[in-house]
Amino acid sequence: MSSDFGFNVAYRFPVVFTSAMCDPGNNTLRDAITREAPSARHRLLVVVDDGVAGAHPTWASDLQAYVGAHSDALELVCPPVIVPGGERAKHGLDEVIRIVGLVNDYAIDRQSYLVAVGGGAVLDMVSFAAAIAHRGIRVVRIPTTTLAQGDSGFAVKNGVNFFGKKNFVGTFAPPFAVINDALLLETLSARDRRSGLAEAVKVSLLKDPEFFEWLETNAEALDRGVPSLVSEAVHRSAALHLAHICGSGDPFEQSSARPLDFGHWSAHKLEALSGHEVRHGEAVAIGMALDVEYAVRLDVLPRVDGDRILSVLRQLGFTLYHPALVTQTVNGGLALIAGLQEFREHLGGRLHITLLRGIGDPFEVHEIDTPAMMAALQTLTPQ
Ligand SMILES: NC(=O)c1ccc[n+]([C@@H]2O[C@H](COP(=O)([O-])OP(=O)(O)OC[C@H]3O[C@@H](n4cnc5c(N)ncnc54)[C@H](O)[C@@H]3O)[C@@H](O)[C@H]2O)c1
Ligand SMILES: [Zn+2]
Repeated sequence: MSSDFGFNVAYRFPVVFTSAMCDPGNNTLRDAITREAPSARHRLLVVVDDGVAGAHPTWASDLQAYVGAHSDALELVCPPVIVPGGERAKHGLDEVIRIVGLVNDYAIDRQSYLVAVGGGAVLDMVSFAAAIAHRGIRVVRIPTTTLAQGDSGFAVKNGVNFFGKKNFVGTFAPPFAVINDALLLETLSARDRRSGLAEAVKVSLLKDPEFFEWLETNAEALDRGVPSLVSEAVHRSAALHLAHICGSGDPFEQSSARPLDFGHWSAHKLEALSGHEVRHGEAVAIGMALDVEYAVRLDVLPRVDGDRILSVLRQLGFTLYHPALVTQTVNGGLALIAGLQEFREHLGGRLHITLLRGIGDPFEVHEIDTPAMMAALQTLTPQ
């Protein structure tokens, strides 16, 4: 006997933008957690990025006071736990194992919550721990960077770096809720604020030429960090990324295509080659510049569009080069080019690289002309 079996599972989770979420009068966190069981008391294990804890010294005690004020519905199983922020969080499995250990120590079950507060790296690491403990416990994400609020915070995937490769170990698992607090962004360094704007430029180039023009008009003010403009860029970026995740028909990325990953094949490799000295967003800006130069060289993208894109990235403050781009392999080749094969392996199947024909006009190629790519890299190299 042979039969086909199958089932559909619908996922719904709130992505909320608020300000001052720890103010006891702000019901965002309470509502997000209690929405499925309003009369229960919910247990939370909160994990905080050390960069956030350092920049907001009262955040942990404010959260404790918040939970105290909502003690009919919420309970902290222990004081917020601080973890290393940035790529240190994703360096292998050490931090993941620590979080899984805490899940065990505090008897966090599948009706309890891991609450991850931090940049994209901490969210990726804690979400991975949540996905594997008890085969998947609920995770509430509180993104604290422009990149995480505009992109990675509501992503369906998580993971950590392994074998020196980005996100080699990870799962696809939607969050239970995502709460973006605008106040948390105010302490970001210029570098980390800028990083998220690379993903905003990326998604504008793929989906929304008007947004690209807005970024072009406001690039210098965005680089100065004018809060209302940074906030608008983050909102628009989030809306476009969310529309793609929910509307593309492939939220779990089962096809080999990765249409949102413009500029990412080289970005992931550059991050690793630089020993993670380069931030993800910085690497994406360089990766987009490289693929723009490549498309111009192949006469696919008009020079005038290419120049506009490079100019916006530079006005936003990005340096479109890093010495690690020209790291040599033992055989004297360019290590960066190995990133193409690693990107293909990560996605599975055929190579899919997104390029641009124009602003808002992406298309896919399945092979890269290595000499042309090396010539594009040469164009970016300072003389
Ligand atoms: N899951 C996904 O789909 C997805 C998508 C895009 C990026 N990512 C991942 O996200 C990571 C990059 O995230 P990121 O750009 O948010 O940076 P990050 O997480 O590396 O954080 C950068 C620095 O900012 C600090 N920080 C965080 N919030 C702060 C705040 N409010 N005030 C002061 N300092 C603060 C951190 O401690 C860290 O030192 C990469 O690992 C990337 O691979 C994942
Ligand atoms: Zn990215």
